[in-house]
Amino acid sequence: MKIGIIGGGIIGLGIGWQLLRRGAEVTLFEKGTIGQESSYAAAGMLAPYAEVGFEEIELMKLGQESLRLYPKFINELAEDTENVPEIDRCGTMLVGVDRDDTEHLRRLYDFREKLSLTVEMITGTEAREREPLLSPKVVSAVWLPDDAQIDNRALVQCLKEAFTSCGGLLLEQNKVTQIHRSGGAVKGVSTPSSNFQFDKVVLAAGCWSRQVSGIPDKLKPPIRPVKGQIITMQKTPDCELKGIVRSPRFYLVPKEDGTIRLGATSEEKGFDKMPTAGGQKELLEEAWEAVPSIYDLPLIETIAGLRPASRDHAPIIGQTRMKGLYYATGHYRHGILLTPVTVYSIVEEILNDSIAEAVKSFRPGRFSKTGQEA
Ligand code: GLY
Repeated sequence: MKIGIIGGGIIGLGIGWQLLRRGAEVTLFEKGTIGQESSYAAAGMLAPYAEVGFEEIELMKLGQESLRLYPKFINELAEDTENVPEIDRCGTMLVGVDRDDTEHLRRLYDFREKLSLTVEMITGTEAREREPLLSPKVVSAVWLPDDAQIDNRALVQCLKEAFTSCGGLLLEQNKVTQIHRSGGAVKGVSTPSSNFQFDKVVLAAGCWSRQVSGIPDKLKPPIRPVKGQIITMQKTPDCELKGIVRSPRFYLVPKEDGTIRLGATSEEKGFDKMPTAGGQKELLEEAWEAVPSIYDLPLIETIAGLRPASRDHAPIIGQTRMKGLYYATGHYRHGILLTPVTVYSIVEEILNDSIAEAVKSFRPGRFSKTGQEA
């Protein structure tokens, strides 16, 4: 079976690699360089328990399932390439610095408790015993031991190597401009210089997923970019965080490579990716208030990424009404976490026409009530 994939982020690469392992012939098109957009800007949190919103139980279950699948995904990757990053089961400490925060944390705690998740509400003193760098200003915290993280940048490079070593054709600097169809079914794609025939096509182009011609407007995925600024700092011996520290306004993620990533703003600015003084100031101030010793850390990178947000902020996974056209897009804040569940379920659907239980709430057709059929 010949399959074309549009988008060389972690999702597109993961799908391509798994399809190759199962005998398909795969060509992957990336408009720029592999893994340089959201997959690079992400902090690599595998944190379904910290990130679940009050109305997002199905999404949390999807995240839980993906976290469960991560070891299998990583072990399979280690069969095809080297230096695969490990899952760091470091947990998340949600911190509060005033009464407002504490009330908010209490609601987050109650919600998680009702869902029977492993969660603790602790005092500032107890939080500092576990994470000594926390400021005396931290008065309360929620501890979520089951959250984890991974080096997303290393993971993407491994997926690229695995994709090519398994025989995939990787076409970087190759923007797909047109999807071709005939009789309601996909036939192939075009770039400005060539035409390609495929049995099936996967659109995994993140917030660029609406920009390919050939998909009728009402089937286009309702996705927009949401800008997130992120700062990378160099760790020093006197600023070693044990795990993820976050509040509603920032997160700090200590990475294996000797850095700490501080994120993230959430801005509706279209495709603007320029970091701003205001965005950086807010992140630094909020993080510094909770972890004062970041003050002296060297800043080594300031960037902004674009999260691909669907209208309901959940991913869109599965075959569309155009036969042979599959979506694996709209992962918003959760792309790194949701990679294994997206990859395994869409590969199963592509090769065996079977839809995994975990993704049934995230099908393309769910937007049809508002005239968007995706
Ligand atoms: N998941 C982290 C972010 O979207 O900023």
